[in-house]
Amino acid sequence: MAENQLQEAGNGDQMMPEDVETDDCLASYTHLYSPDLLKDNVAFVTGGGSGIGFRIAEVLMRHGCDTVIASRNQERLSEAAKKLSAATGRHCLALSLDVRQPETITAAVEETLKEFGRIDILVNNAAGNFLCPASSLSFNAFKTVMEIDTLGTFNTSKVVYEKWLKDHGGSVVNISATLSYRGQALQVHAGSAKAAIDAMTRHLAVEWGPSGVRVNSLAPGPISGTEGYRRLGGVSAQSSGAFQSIPLQRAGNKTEIAHGVLYLASRAASYVTGASLVVDGGSWLTSANGLPALLGIASSHSAKL
Ligand code: HXC
Ligand code: NAP
Repeated sequence: MAENQLQEAGNGDQMMPEDVETDDCLASYTHLYSPDLLKDNVAFVTGGGSGIGFRIAEVLMRHGCDTVIASRNQERLSEAAKKLSAATGRHCLALSLDVRQPETITAAVEETLKEFGRIDILVNNAAGNFLCPASSLSFNAFKTVMEIDTLGTFNTSKVVYEKWLKDHGGSVVNISATLSYRGQALQVHAGSAKAAIDAMTRHLAVEWGPSGVRVNSLAPGPISGTEGYRRLGGVSAQSSGAFQSIPLQRAGNKTEIAHGVLYLASRAASYVTGASLVVDGGSWLTSANGLPALLGIASSHSAKL
């Protein structure tokens, strides 16, 4: 196919939904699904005060959902909740928790049920990451990422299931990654943690399906305007033209991830459970995984080498 036909076929920027790079709400939003898709549902989004989680909360709210955003930094969460409520007209509650500490999750879930009376959707989005070769990674660094990503996803899922989903059904969406598919360099900690989340997704889908609970995961590619993008070399990949190797030839945006979550969380995916949806423009199939190039990015981002 000629280059101009590829553009006409719509694989370029013109197909991208609206986004803004900062942790602010969209200036305008075009609904692809019915604005009532999640009417009067309640979502609990970990890490919803920033980046991808913020946009997930916004897009769910733009479809009629009230939302809790929960993480460690209460000040940033409160600021985010104000923005989200103002832009969408829905309620947003900012609650502090550390997904490594089950008692803080229990307190936040109890507060949510007191305030909203239900939890229909759980999005496990909280995570921590940085570039680091395995040989330089301390035992505690590996453990920390496993604890935030994998244990945090289990802890939160278990509390929300026991306190609400078990008796009422609902939907869980876990944010994972494609890092383990090819053994991405400098990412043994996050790749192992996210692979375990994909496995957990299938185990919980099997066990919780009979209770009417669907459990799916979504693996983003490089997503601009995020902490992950800044930490993992997205900015230099963009400027050096490295994204030309991605089949869709660009980074993704946060709204594109939020649309995937909206699909999985909603009744549009009523017969989908135990699935992992890759939203990466085809990136993992074709992007470089060369140690020397990535070591260059890592040292320019002052990771511990
Ligand atoms: C090597 C590092 C490190 C680095 C921390 N450590 N940063 N090791 N390189 N850049 C080590 C520390 O030295 C320590 O080990 C251990 O990790 C724990 O560090 P703490 O700072 O005590 O942990 P904590 O305060 O709990 O903070 C967790 C964190 C932090 C992950 C280290 O960066 C964080 O809070 N991140 C949240 C935001 C975030 O990471 N967002 C990006 C998500 S992107 P020692 O041995 O010294 O005690 C993402 C993308 C995935 O997940 C896929 C992309 C394609
Ligand atoms: P981000 O803004 O840093 O999001 C991570 C969130 O997790 C933050 O809001 C942080 O809030 C929260 N968090 C971290 N540790 C926590 C803890 N112990 N307890 C509770 N909350 C905690 O980064 P992002 O790039 O948007 O990443 C969002 C998700 O997408 C992550 O799951 C990430 O792995 C995934 N992902 C991102 C990309 C990308 O290109 N950005 C690619 C693949 C996958 P506090 O600091 O307030 O706790």
